Amino acid sequence: MYFGLILNVEDKKIKNLRELLNSKIPDTDIKKIMKSYEQLGDIIILTIPREYKNLRDFIGNSFYETFECQTVLEKGYISGEFRRPYFNKIVGNDFVTIHKENGILYKIDLSKVMFSAGNIAERIRMAHVTLPDERVIDMFCGIGYFTLPIAKYGQSKVWALEKNPDSYQILLDNIKLNKLTDKIFPFNIDCLDFNPDFKADRIIMGYFSDDEKFLLKALELIKEGGVIHYHNTIPEKNESNLKSEINKILAEKDKKAEPIYYRRIKKFSPGVWHVVFDFKVV
Ligand SMILES: C[S@@+](CC[C@H](N)C(=O)[O-])C[C@H]1O[C@@H](n2cnc3c(N)ncnc32)[C@H](O)[C@@H]1O
Repeated sequence: MYFGLILNVEDKKIKNLRELLNSKIPDTDIKKIMKSYEQLGDIIILTIPREYKNLRDFIGNSFYETFECQTVLEKGYISGEFRRPYFNKIVGNDFVTIHKENGILYKIDLSKVMFSAGNIAERIRMAHVTLPDERVIDMFCGIGYFTLPIAKYGQSKVWALEKNPDSYQILLDNIKLNKLTDKIFPFNIDCLDFNPDFKADRIIMGYFSDDEKFLLKALELIKEGGVIHYHNTIPEKNESNLKSEINKILAEKDKKAEPIYYRRIKKFSPGVWHVVFDFKVV
């Protein structure tokens, strides 16, 4: 009954929004706009089709009024070593919001840090891969995308490494927000400079780079038989080579990758996939 009520309210909002947009945009194109909007906490992110750029403010204000949200942004791009996002603000002010996902609170400042909605399934999967008290190193933890679900649901201890001081500050806030100070050990550090006095049971490499220095560093940090979750972007035509490329690098340290799991997470760009490859180091 209560759920029905919420659905009715949401349906009503969507219906009102369609009517609002319909005053200037035909139904078929409204579908396109509706399909591409994201909501993170109290912020709505829109992808405005090229042919409607001149109606950006009208579309943005229609969402703003309908959802009574804090800010409406137009999707831009992500760039640089720190994966900083760039948005066009359409209406509203604040870029900071708290996004709830899978029982986890993510404080996000979209003027400084990214949050990929497309990685939701991977964040949920990471909540279920670890064993209690495993020692996990998240080499590129950002604001805690994977670190938080691993610590909260996996009952594991996570050494969370982040080079960008802005992301690191938000990570500290998210650890407190989710009451995980006893499970997560944050470091504002370049993961290449991290030299702990233990070998990890598991390492998360959630960063796109073809530079083998990061994988070689992970091999220094992982125990024999430990598991690495390796993320990267890869052109579809090279996908079948990924495992042999990884094994070439491991061979430099007389190691081998025993495959555990492989998945395409999302389309990164035309013909290029964001993939994850889990393997045991033997
Ligand atoms: C944005 S996250 C990746 C997103 C996350 N894996 C996800 O899929 O949602 C990558 C993070 O790695 C950080 N980073 C980049 N190079 C680094 C390094 N050498 N050491 C530690 N962190 C680094 C960036 O600042 C960024 O916050």
